[in-house]
Amino acid sequence: MTRTDPVSAPAASPRIAVIGLGAMSRSLARALPRGAEGLRIGAALVRPGSGAEVEAAAAAAGLELFRDLADLLAWAPDLVVECAGHGAVRDLAPGLLEAGVPVVVVSIGALGDADLRGRLEAAAAGPGGGRLTVASGAIGGLDILRTGGRAGLSRVVYRGVKPPAAWKGTPAEDAVDLDALTEPTVFFEGDAAEASARFPKNANVTAAVALAGIGFTGTRVSLIADPTAAGNRHEVEGEGAFGTFRVALSNVPLPDNPKTSWLAALSVEEAVVRHFQSVSY
Ligand SMILES: NC(=O)c1ccc[n+]([C@@H]2O[C@H](COP(=O)([O-])OP(=O)(O)OC[C@H]3O[C@@H](n4cnc5c(N)ncnc54)[C@H](O)[C@@H]3O)[C@@H](O)[C@H]2O)c1
Repeated sequence: MTRTDPVSAPAASPRIAVIGLGAMSRSLARALPRGAEGLRIGAALVRPGSGAEVEAAAAAAGLELFRDLADLLAWAPDLVVECAGHGAVRDLAPGLLEAGVPVVVVSIGALGDADLRGRLEAAAAGPGGGRLTVASGAIGGLDILRTGGRAGLSRVVYRGVKPPAAWKGTPAEDAVDLDALTEPTVFFEGDAAEASARFPKNANVTAAVALAGIGFTGTRVSLIADPTAAGNRHEVEGEGAFGTFRVALSNVPLPDNPKTSWLAALSVEEAVVRHFQSVSY
């Protein structure tokens, strides 16, 4: 007699693809199979002009490689994880959602564009639309903003502290002499809308805080160059009917890309695992 008990039948492994094959995707492809969940990345969508280096990285990670969204859709992914950049969210996420594919986004700063946010929301809410999830990225405390926000938040502050060299090539150079600083110096104070627009490199964490809390115009942002800082620090403070909170993070960079926090890569891993869990704690 053939045993057909569905409980003991091995479940088909979900088909998970990444957009982009940079530091974060490679970290995810390496780390995911080491978890107890048995998940693995199966494919990557890369830029049309990507060459031999990307092909070698895909082969090393055992990934199918696509250069076109239609080919990725034909592969029938169960989940697509964006680890590529703001342009990839803008150009690829709406089509995936419209096709019913769930998408995890880590380039959250793209959602600072209200028009794009509207397009994504419409695509996800449309007939057969996929679910859009935003990974927490390099920041924390978003759960408190979301839950505390149910009863109203009166104040949300994000403070970003980096060594002066990390602010080079940004408008911070117009505000202070980064090379001459001897003490922590605030060079920008404003709302999250202005901060995201003027400091796009910081836009991912700023947008994550704004979207989880009281939006882009309500969220206060201070950016600080600190010559004594060893790495990047993020602080989030919130106040509301629920009480107050403060979260401070000192992030370790991802070995393959010093501009990306390891925590951001881990947040993508967690979002993928959570997506397929039947019970989440
Ligand atoms: N939420 C956060 O806190 C947070 C933190 C760090 C990084 N990020 C985001 O994660 C992204 C990935 O980080 P990373 O360290 O892997 O960067 P990376 O530069 O190492 O890799 C990004 C890769 O994506 C590719 N890419 C860009 N646009 C693409 C497109 N339209 N289609 C296909 N591939 C595309 C690039 O060629 C590159 O290979 C960053 O661009 C950033 O937006 C978010």
